[in-house]
Amino acid sequence: MCGIVGYVGPRAAVSPLVEGLSRLEYRGYDSAGVAVLNGKGVETRKLAGRIAGLRDLLERMPVHGSCGIGHTRWATHGAPTERNAHPHTDCTGTIALVHNGIIENADVLRKRLEQDGHVFVTDTDTETLVHLIEESPGATLEERVIAALHHVEGTYGIAVLAEADPQKIVVARRGSPVLLGVGDGEFLVASDASAVLGHTRSVVYLNDGDVAVVTPAGYRVLDGDAREQERSIDDIEWDLDAIALGGYPHFMLKEICEQPETVQSTLRGRLLVAEGTARLNGLKLTPEQCRAIRRIVIVACGTSWHAGLVGRHVLEELVGIPVSVEYASEYRYRQQLHVPGTVTIAISQSGETADTLEALRAAKAAGSTALGLVNVVGSTIAREADGGIYLHAGPEIGVASTKAFTSQVVALLLLGLHLGRQRELPEAEGRRLVAELMRLPELVARTLTVEPAVRALAELYADARNALYLGRGINFPVALEGALKLKEISYVHAEGYPAAEMKHGPIALIDENMPVVCLAPKDAVYPKVISNMQEVKARGGRIIAITSEGSGDLRGLAGHQIAVPATPPLLAPVLTVIPLQLLAYHIAVLRGCDVDRPRNLAKSVTVE
Ligand code: G6P
Repeated sequence: MCGIVGYVGPRAAVSPLVEGLSRLEYRGYDSAGVAVLNGKGVETRKLAGRIAGLRDLLERMPVHGSCGIGHTRWATHGAPTERNAHPHTDCTGTIALVHNGIIENADVLRKRLEQDGHVFVTDTDTETLVHLIEESPGATLEERVIAALHHVEGTYGIAVLAEADPQKIVVARRGSPVLLGVGDGEFLVASDASAVLGHTRSVVYLNDGDVAVVTPAGYRVLDGDAREQERSIDDIEWDLDAIALGGYPHFMLKEICEQPETVQSTLRGRLLVAEGTARLNGLKLTPEQCRAIRRIVIVACGTSWHAGLVGRHVLEELVGIPVSVEYASEYRYRQQLHVPGTVTIAISQSGETADTLEALRAAKAAGSTALGLVNVVGSTIAREADGGIYLHAGPEIGVASTKAFTSQVVALLLLGLHLGRQRELPEAEGRRLVAELMRLPELVARTLTVEPAVRALAELYADARNALYLGRGINFPVALEGALKLKEISYVHAEGYPAAEMKHGPIALIDENMPVVCLAPKDAVYPKVISNMQEVKARGGRIIAITSEGSGDLRGLAGHQIAVPATPPLLAPVLTVIPLQLLAYHIAVLRGCDVDRPRNLAKSVTVE
């Protein structure tokens, strides 16, 4: 949510800034801007719209200088206009700042600053920060930034430059990620690693509360009281190809099609065939600690929450302990009842979702062990959790999550296997599950062969105005995820429902204009789902059935049938979700939607 980039070094800053911003655009894309120290002062260029527009603007009206900051915005306070676009400047126009996060006491600060004579020109909360820095005491920019931040409540990742302190960028973070890219005689700052990868693989992830000072000579990390801090340099594990389209028309399609490899990456090195278990060293749990777990709470948002719902089935079955799955945003504001032996698992692709992070912190504060199931290495949730499982699915750029979901489910299966084997799960069952998991990448690849059939379906249903997704048991969360995919990228209203619950309300909506996607792989509730499909058919609904190979011909009941390979039921969601991802994708394309940048959404939601 909002992307930040900065460059200081020997080269013209604009090129790495614009390149970095275009890689961060998935984080927010309603407006953009840069500020550069041009040798005389601060010069800004900004506009409402995309990075491509900013690039054009900079060609028409270039800015010159080798120290600059840039921003791509997802509006929180104030409409997405040129005036509200970052960078923001102080009254003198000599300090410029970009910000990701929300300043919660902005109204109070603004009133006070206005009374002191500061003139505000935007509707943003961010502008208060730059005026605060303007009036804060200090001999250096970092001293002024540190002094200003003492007055701030809320979350921020910021980058600041000032005419009085040329060739220097000061960054700070609390609740929103910032990292430093360490190059050869040049340095970048960014809200995520993709923005710096074109220049360096070496990064320093800042901790909450850090302030860093970056110049061409090097960087220093300070705490909120200006004391020097040591931070390690990490290597980015992936390369630029991972964030390029690679011949695909959209990142979403690329990421759907990558799933055989991403599922494989999540499994890699973790399956122990002979022992029938999974090796998960990152959990940092001893066998005794695994056996002492009494309850698991999963906190997550969006697609990750759906993976958590699948995880409940997986963990309850394999580990045999109760699991609850909570919307992180709701959980964090409820009273935390400490139940001894509780493990809280935060599931997050980005590792930065504000609500999920805060829910994890609340659980930790209440005495729970905190685990993270995270994709982005070095992200805040990954670093604050006591242990966890990295998904290793590679960067996910499409705003609608796809490959992260399947990797999350696979990671939950590994977790279930690992914990289960430390408890009651028999070795033979463990071995069977290991064998099935090893087949999974190949089955995912076979599932992707349904794409032409799904595309044909999309053509038939692209004009539908509503859709219903039904599933039972472990496939009910898949119904929720299918509906979410459709609504978020094609703007078609869609609802996911437990198939049997449909008759308590949504059945009233069913007529010949209502496509109803029914998840019906062969499992214990298959006959029940068939009965629910009969109820839909009796009311004229148009059924698209997602079944598994060998589950029989449903023609006569379903208008369309898409079969995925057969698996044990616990693994089925990894496959049944794929036709739904493809259906949403093709419907969105046919409707002319901007698949990778759906309106109003952002990838990494660092505000609550
Ligand atoms: C946003 C994204 C979703 C994602 C959710 C949670 O809403 O658009 O695709 O599922 O955030 O994100 P996380 O990074 O925590 O998994």
